[in-house]
Amino acid sequence: RQYRIAVMVGSLRKDSYNRKLATAIVKLAPSDFSFHQVQINDLPLYNQDDDENQAAPVRRMKAEIQAADGIMFVTPEYSRSIPGVLKNALDHGSRPYGRNVWAGKPAGILGVSPGSAGTAMAQQHLRNILACLDMPTQGQPEAFIQVREGLFDEAGEIGEASRPHLQNWMDHYVAWVKSHVE
Ligand code: FNR
Repeated sequence: RQYRIAVMVGSLRKDSYNRKLATAIVKLAPSDFSFHQVQINDLPLYNQDDDENQAAPVRRMKAEIQAADGIMFVTPEYSRSIPGVLKNALDHGSRPYGRNVWAGKPAGILGVSPGSAGTAMAQQHLRNILACLDMPTQGQPEAFIQVREGLFDEAGEIGEASRPHLQNWMDHYVAWVKSHVE
């Protein structure tokens, strides 16, 4: 069986560290796991008036979430919370009422920041949101990652010093997803 993981990156920045991390870390997953980054940069701002007539990009995103066995969040911290673009995507997927596409999808959270707290506050805020969306979210290991020399190697892969920690994260995430999917 192949496990399909939808990856939600909370940054739209071209040279985003979080996107780079999201791209590199999937190489630490086993071959029965496949990952794809979900496009969120063309979602309109959420407006409840549109619930019964959701825009095409919203329907596309929701179909991708529905088809996924698990969700991996890789997000920056903005003002000690998650970026609005990610919250916007989460809100879209949660509606219309009673048709929340996130429900039951096992989730894992990662984040990287130049700051020493390594997105810890954003991750705790995200956990609150995911609880409300009924997503079973991996508790440990946590990954509060600081941008440091050697986080990535010259090829853009996870650097040697960071690999044991991130491999451990991925091993637990893989087990977490499998434990929630038949
Ligand atoms: C930030 N940044 C930031 N960093 C952090 O550790 N805690 C924070 O609360 C904030 N707040 C914040 C707000 C806004 C509006 C911006 C633009 C930035 C810095 C942030 O971590 C840095 O820009 C990262 O490079 C963003 O992640 P990406 O885009 O590289 O993935």
